[in-house]
Amino acid sequence: MRPKVIAGNWKMNKDADESVELINGLITRSGEIPNGVTVILCPPFTSLAIAQRLLDGGPMALGGQNMHYEDEGAFTGEISAGMLKSVGCTFVIIGHSERRQIFGETNDAINKKVKKALSAGLRPIICVGETLEERERGVTEQVINVQLKGALQDVSENEVSRAIIAYEPVWAIGTGKNATPEQAADVHNYIRKIIGQFYSWATAERIIIQYGGSVKPENARSLLATDGIDGALVGGACLKPDSFMEIVMAAGS
Ligand code: 13P
Repeated sequence: MRPKVIAGNWKMNKDADESVELINGLITRSGEIPNGVTVILCPPFTSLAIAQRLLDGGPMALGGQNMHYEDEGAFTGEISAGMLKSVGCTFVIIGHSERRQIFGETNDAINKKVKKALSAGLRPIICVGETLEERERGVTEQVINVQLKGALQDVSENEVSRAIIAYEPVWAIGTGKNATPEQAADVHNYIRKIIGQFYSWATAERIIIQYGGSVKPENARSLLATDGIDGALVGGACLKPDSFMEIVMAAGS
């Protein structure tokens, strides 16, 4: 049995004061987190340090939304794996479609980040997903294959079991139009098959595959009850304590 993992990707939302308010709202309800459900908060970099202080000793984990693959140096505007760890992060989102599309992140850069995250002791949440145009052209599996192969190049079997894969169809992100449980399960099964081919079936059975894209309290239960969907990467609905906690609770039922 794989544990369920629910992560909130705050994206570029919430200043310092707003972050404190959201985190305190979540802490108030953290006693309701079901057994066996891992909850990860990924606020913007500017709120990580205060989040660490507020979350200290509690059940919720902290993650970054991105990182650079070098340890330090002249990389203006970037954040290293070590910096994320120094403010309590144990996870980091890598290769989100917004990073790929808006900031031109390549599979090669994503691979370097994945390897650095793993060697630094962070668990990467590796995002993959097709655009609407790619889905309509019938090339979803090829796109996922190239993204996964790219991200996992030279990642050992031992290391890959610490990674989480997030299937986020680009057409479902922020659109209110989620993939159906069947559509998501098809791609999750494909991802698991690919991991089995790269590594072994035992590793494929262990790896956590989250779904992301317009996950809301109304659709979380059916998505999370679907075989092969091991959690959710939540955008818009993680910005309010109640909607995020409803999704967390749906993972336990
Ligand atoms: P939404 O839940 O807002 O569609 O965002 C999904 C996402 O991109 C999470 O990383």
